Amino acid sequence: MKYIKDQENLNEKRILLRLDLNVPLKNGIITDHTRIDKILPTINLLLKKKSKILIVSHIGRPKGKINKNLSLKPICESLENKINQKVILINDEIFKLKKEDLFKNPEDQIIFLENIRFYKEEEKNDQNFSKQLAKLVDIFVNDAFSCSHRAHASISKITEFLPSFAGLQLETEINALKKVTSEIKKPVTCIIGGSKISTKIGVIKNLIPKFDNFIIVGGMANNILEYKGKQIGKSIKEDNCERIIDDIFKIAKNHTCSIIYPEDVRVGKSMGDEAQIKELNEIANDDLILDIGPKTVNKIKDIIESSETILWNGPAGYFENPNFAHGSYEIAKKIVKKNKNNLIYSIAGGGDTIAVLNQINAFNDFNFVSTAGGAFLEYLEGKELPGIKALN
Ligand code: 3PG
Ligand code: MG
Repeated sequence: MKYIKDQENLNEKRILLRLDLNVPLKNGIITDHTRIDKILPTINLLLKKKSKILIVSHIGRPKGKINKNLSLKPICESLENKINQKVILINDEIFKLKKEDLFKNPEDQIIFLENIRFYKEEEKNDQNFSKQLAKLVDIFVNDAFSCSHRAHASISKITEFLPSFAGLQLETEINALKKVTSEIKKPVTCIIGGSKISTKIGVIKNLIPKFDNFIIVGGMANNILEYKGKQIGKSIKEDNCERIIDDIFKIAKNHTCSIIYPEDVRVGKSMGDEAQIKELNEIANDDLILDIGPKTVNKIKDIIESSETILWNGPAGYFENPNFAHGSYEIAKKIVKKNKNNLIYSIAGGGDTIAVLNQINAFNDFNFVSTAGGAFLEYLEGKELPGIKALN
């Protein structure tokens, strides 16, 4: 892998910088800035080397269609404030853009393209789209470790058309993950939550052999509860997961890994509702499971107490509503308490997990926090991530 920090002569060179600025937004306001803050060193490095920077990022999952709620405008403005320099956001249709349309004024240094997932070609890893992007610049830099598990045009295919390098944050994340995964002490516990069920459920069975305890909370836990014959009302779930869950329990048995899932829950009638604690046999048809209940919290705390290493990816509930943040906060606080006495090695990852940690000021009380969620899990699986493979 080649690193952009080692490159000389970047003066006036145009760099397509792929970032993951997929930060949590609420009514257009950024609720957690970590992913922006983490890439500032790379931007500053490129500015110092006097490069012209064309930033490409996505936010959310617009599925190839323009969606004004998923504009990068708030992120662009935030970046502008943080680096105290003009950042130009352009919505021009990428297929019509020409190299000479960009950086027309000598003082233009940073241009931001609108959400790259407004183009269906991005997720298809489309060759012509990548070629078109490549025509606009001289060099490609990937500083988006957290979406390097996606074989997308601006992450993977584009490297076929440009000299390609790793950014500072990508390098930091890979080095840290390499170190922590080679020094893991048992018993080791993994907590997986969040709402991206389809991304994570398939990863679990490959991870089970590496862990002593596997705690499943968040959206995926609903699938487990349904599999176990429980009512889950209107809660989010993924269809057709029975085979995967069969495998999860079989593999866990063969590897003596305990699978832990909710024993009680907090429900609401809508996402903005008050929380009601319910036993699993009390869930109504119009209930949404939005957090774990107190019995489950206590069980998880006991498991954390007896662990030497903990890996956590994905909140236990819909923490955006404080009524359903309880489970996530309790998990975080328990880990922090053990960590302060050096009794556990703790790793957390993912945009929403980071938001939870920041809300209770716990970010710096973990041994390592990765900006990556899905990419972090696939890295742990031992998979070669498409975005990293493309740089090698
Ligand atoms: C993330 O938030 O994990 C990355 O930005 C990837 O997003 P995705 O799961 O929508 O591909
Ligand atoms: Mg995310």
